Amino acid sequence: MYKPHPPLCPPVAVNSTRLQEVRDVIASAHKDCTPSEKLQFYNQWANQYEEDVTVLEYKAPRLAAEALASVCTVNRDSRLVLDVACGTGLVAEQLQHRGFLLFHGVDGSTGMLEVAKKKQLYQELRQCMLGKDSLPFGSEKYDVVMIVGALSDGQVPVSVLSELFRVTKPGGLMCLTTRSNISNLQYKAELEEALTDLQNRGLWEQILVQEVEQWEIAVSEKEVTQKSDYIPGVIYIYRKSGAYE
Ligand SMILES: C[S@@+](CC[C@H](N)C(=O)[O-])C[C@H]1O[C@@H](n2cnc3c(N)ncnc32)[C@H](O)[C@@H]1O
Repeated sequence: MYKPHPPLCPPVAVNSTRLQEVRDVIASAHKDCTPSEKLQFYNQWANQYEEDVTVLEYKAPRLAAEALASVCTVNRDSRLVLDVACGTGLVAEQLQHRGFLLFHGVDGSTGMLEVAKKKQLYQELRQCMLGKDSLPFGSEKYDVVMIVGALSDGQVPVSVLSELFRVTKPGGLMCLTTRSNISNLQYKAELEEALTDLQNRGLWEQILVQEVEQWEIAVSEKEVTQKSDYIPGVIYIYRKSGAYE
């Protein structure tokens, strides 16, 4: 019997001062910085991360988990899931509410990993600089590979795709998200080119694309459009070619 799905972001009366505080925190990380400086930022943010992303109405973990559950309808409790850039564990929490039980996680930030560890959701948690180091896991190991909220400009580079692909079992699923805000459009185009290239080579097939208008509240005034205070985002799910045992 699955537990009911609590919303990731319960309705909050968003106080504009609080929202501005969160925007200021994140703006400090959006300044040009090296990947290791970015991870330093996450180390410092880790204990406050979940409260702050609730203020931003960050829905990606819930939406990605719902999307995955919609295409993975049987034997969820025996699927081994790798949560890449797992942060504090929001994605595994959402997946657990939908009947998934087996999680490994990897992230570059030791601070975020410490918060995730306390949740006792992951059987294994590892630290790794994505885009620089290989994933510390064997090939064709995972039924599902998730990367949520980390494929964007200034975070995890598109080149990580080859590692995500390597560790996925033939027939396994990969669920990826990115943002469609103005400052991420070039990154998104590069990502989509790489996704299409793998599809054209017959290495995987796309099984879901879900565009989401209200992904999260925009963190910079530049991203606020006349239409909305929110930025859009997108979820992709691919199935790796090959048999599924
Ligand atoms: C916005 S958080 C998303 C966390 C989680 N997936 C979620 O949706 O709540 C981005 C995560 O990516 C990690 N990250 C960013 N760049 C990274 C890199 N190059 N290597 C490893 N981890 C990275 C950060 O430490 C952080 O935990």
